[in-house]
Amino acid sequence: SDYRIAIVGATGAVGTKMKEMLETSSLPIKEVKFLASIRSVGKKISFRDKLYEIEELKASSFEEMDIALFSAGGSISEVYAKEAVKRGCVVIDNTSAFRMSEGVPLVVPEVNKEALRQHQGIIANPNCSTIQMMVALEPIRKKYGLERVIVSTYQAVSGAGISAINELKQQAQDMLDEKTTIEANVLPCSGDKKHFPLAFNALAQIDVFSDEGYTNEEWKMINETKKIMSDDELKVTATCVRVPVMSGHSESVYIELKESDVTVADIQAVLSEAPGIILEDNPDEQLYPQPLNSVGKKEVFVGRIRQDLDVKKGFHLWVVSDNLLKGAAWNSVQIAETMHEMNLLKNK
Ligand code: A2P
Repeated sequence: SDYRIAIVGATGAVGTKMKEMLETSSLPIKEVKFLASIRSVGKKISFRDKLYEIEELKASSFEEMDIALFSAGGSISEVYAKEAVKRGCVVIDNTSAFRMSEGVPLVVPEVNKEALRQHQGIIANPNCSTIQMMVALEPIRKKYGLERVIVSTYQAVSGAGISAINELKQQAQDMLDEKTTIEANVLPCSGDKKHFPLAFNALAQIDVFSDEGYTNEEWKMINETKKIMSDDELKVTATCVRVPVMSGHSESVYIELKESDVTVADIQAVLSEAPGIILEDNPDEQLYPQPLNSVGKKEVFVGRIRQDLDVKKGFHLWVVSDNLLKGAAWNSVQIAETMHEMNLLKNK
């Protein structure tokens, strides 16, 4: 009963991490296939000490596969996820293509794994910023109820892919070399008209602008939070900012609880017991989460927990995680492992 698993977008920032997460996964794996664009055909990739060639993504790629992990962009998922399902694959999709679709579970295993039972072939991996916030807030919501969430993000460049990582490195180099022109062709968003340098800067735009002055990234955090927590009444608003950090998203999260008389110590106690969380909260020791320290770790780090000075039910948290791991590749592989444990996977 071992699985055959394909990675779509295997050469990308997330695809590479999906491979690494599978290498150390508890899933029984009998075969792997690495798919990308025709540009990558023939490139080699190692998996558990064996070399594999990257293959071109085609509908027929999925014929002999049981599970497909997608991370090659929304437009690729829109075309090929259904092709994979038609051929009997379970698709775990890291893009935003199906996240809000009915019948598509949007899952963070620590929060809502029971939603996996409703799947019809496609399971969506939430947005990276949403995932880490859900891991931190769900234990608090379960115990004390959640009335509202106001989040500001400090998001790393690796979330925008390898081209964005390379662009930031080049800009930083050019800035230090005191070049007169700093080139920008990718960020803040490859799909928009203008581009600005990120090096030594902060850009309050992730993805394109949409309704009511919010960007798509901000709408994703708002809508996905309500879907994952199954609470349309929850008040949520977000400001998403790209910062010149390579990996590790940070978030300043303000919450208002339903219950009163909750203390900082209560919240610390809940989070210290919660799955997937490492509490790093000790101002006396200058202990608080940092994106640099989160790189390579699967957990979500939480610290700086404070009560609001004016709102008694209000609390502030600092939430950090490796956006390529819990925010993307690890959450996807964890979904597959969870489905295996729940007996929701079949092999053909
Ligand atoms: P390739 O390297 O062949 O272009 P990132 O998010 O880091 O930019 O990575 C995007 C991933 O999506 C890469 O693995 C890339 O493969 C893949 N990809 C992009 N366009 C296509 C396509 N048309 N068909 C298949 N894979 C694609």
